[in-house]
Amino acid sequence: MNRPFEIDPEEYPFTDRWLPYRDGNIHYVDEGQGPAILLLHGNPTWSYLYRNVIKELRKDYRLIAPDYPGFGMSKAPADYRFTPQEHSKAVQDLIRHLDLKDFILVVQDWGGPVGLNYAVQHRENLCGIVVMNTWAWPAEIMPMKLFSLAMGGKPFGYWLQTRRNFFAKTIVPNGIHHAEKVTDRLRKAYTDPFPTPESRIPTWVFPRSIRKERTWLAGIESKLPNLSDLPAHILWGTKDSAGFPLEQMAKWQKVLPMNETEMLEDASHYVQEDRPDRVASAIRRVSSRTLGGVLR
Ligand code: BEZ
Repeated sequence: MNRPFEIDPEEYPFTDRWLPYRDGNIHYVDEGQGPAILLLHGNPTWSYLYRNVIKELRKDYRLIAPDYPGFGMSKAPADYRFTPQEHSKAVQDLIRHLDLKDFILVVQDWGGPVGLNYAVQHRENLCGIVVMNTWAWPAEIMPMKLFSLAMGGKPFGYWLQTRRNFFAKTIVPNGIHHAEKVTDRLRKAYTDPFPTPESRIPTWVFPRSIRKERTWLAGIESKLPNLSDLPAHILWGTKDSAGFPLEQMAKWQKVLPMNETEMLEDASHYVQEDRPDRVASAIRRVSSRTLGGVLR
């Protein structure tokens, strides 16, 4: 399979893997050997988001990072609607295909609901979790509800996403605290997956789903007690421009009582861009708290 766009091979030095998915495909990275780590992105990112974490850990771990259909290099099936439920099903199908067992789940942004939907139903298959600036419940806080109305509404939000590529062009750079990390190369990596108005619809469905998928999100929340014994590391960027206040972190601390929590004063929403070193350390830490971890 050919890449749909070019990417700097020094920045993203990984072998492409593709799982045929109906009349589309799921592109993913599967690098290194050792305990399995599943890395889930949010909106409008893709496996590129985890590149520096993967480079740092691949000597000791097996790192799997998919692009959801419609994101990154994955091609969505014709009847795909880009809902978080469908993304969660796609991830579950990949987990089955790779026969992943006893892995550590790493989530941020919409990776939270997408991954936690799997986690609450398959606790036995996980040995730990790393949670960054995300949620897995219906929106309670006003900024998130307003964000959904503005970014995932019609006509304004739809116009912003499809005509202005607002998520990729504006929200990503604004969601990185370290301005010097927002290079032209980085901007290109996040905008290239969305060359046409139609290709940007997935970035509009995500914020829309904050309101439209409340029932599904409530279903995940009701099963979060299944994770009460799961070793967890909560890594929280405190400068989150997307409006994730510390109350959301506190909620994770209740939901995941086996947590260790680390606040990052120099990270915004895209923690993996601001502090990939701390994300890697968090994974090592959770792994060390389960059998056979590799702690550095
Ligand atoms: C969204 O795409 O819905 C989203 C993005 C950033 C923070 C919260 C939600």
